[in-house]
Amino acid sequence: MKNVLIIGSTGQIGSELTMKLRGLYPEGNVVAGYIPGAEPKGILLESGPSAVADVRDGASIAKIVSEYKIDTIYNLAALLSAVAEKKPLLAWDIQMNGLLNILEVARENGCAVFTPSSIGSFGPETPHTNTPQDTIQRPRSMYGVTKVATELLSDYYFHKYGVDTRSVRFPGLISNVTLPGGGTTDYAVEIYYAAVKGEEFKCPIASGTFMDMMYMPDALKAAVDIMNADPDKLIHRNSFNIASMSFDPEILYNKIREHIPDFKMKYEVDPVRQAIADSWPDRMDDSCAREEWGWKPSFDLDSMTVDMLAALRRKFGIVG
Ligand code: SER
Repeated sequence: MKNVLIIGSTGQIGSELTMKLRGLYPEGNVVAGYIPGAEPKGILLESGPSAVADVRDGASIAKIVSEYKIDTIYNLAALLSAVAEKKPLLAWDIQMNGLLNILEVARENGCAVFTPSSIGSFGPETPHTNTPQDTIQRPRSMYGVTKVATELLSDYYFHKYGVDTRSVRFPGLISNVTLPGGGTTDYAVEIYYAAVKGEEFKCPIASGTFMDMMYMPDALKAAVDIMNADPDKLIHRNSFNIASMSFDPEILYNKIREHIPDFKMKYEVDPVRQAIADSWPDRMDDSCAREEWGWKPSFDLDSMTVDMLAALRRKFGIVG
């Protein structure tokens, strides 16, 4: 990995992954791909090349791949679960037709491709605790349908054409740089913003609903490490369970209150998000990722909470 295209570089993952890759590969081209209306700004714009990369326009991807001699594509374009339920056709277009365009460009140009999957690729019949690597995947959300199909299509391109596709099933990702847009796990980010700003948090997910979550530095490490893993050791490819912590809103709220004792939360459950959350694992078994490419997270709920609160206080100039 040296010359890399990040599609969706201004999104929640892309904005941080692009900067991390530029730090790791200062001699290479790390291109921030974006769609009009979501242009990179500030350090993301100034620290390296950027280009319009719309997954629904394969020619725009092929042009960048050829111009910058791209060897690895991070395909991060997606509508998250709650938004995808409102716009299922658009979600299908971006996630499936877009993926096909990228895989074709990769096939023609010898690129490796990372397209994330998710806890959303599981469904109500999936075992919810210690969810195995290989198990039932019958999601009922459009987001989940596209994620299962992404895993299958990516594996198809590997087996049929030798395209080096690899991926992880991300838990809900918690970060302090760019907000996620319209996911079921977003509450676990928004709650920190409310706590730091001294606002009461209205929680859209019911008490007792456990989901896998992960702090962004661990997610970025996974995205880099899987693409650098020794291919001979990979039994699986698309896509690996990765886990680091699992909690429900009440546990998260009480953890934040250890630092901000007067923080208030009340429940205003969103039925769409709740139904999705109920169908997802409580906690995935990530032993295959640990064995096949050495996955090991660094953050737990305690250390993430300390770091999130400090980072958000700095961001908003709040003295803690
Ligand atoms: N964070 C995503 C969502 O909530 C799941 O991968 O939609």
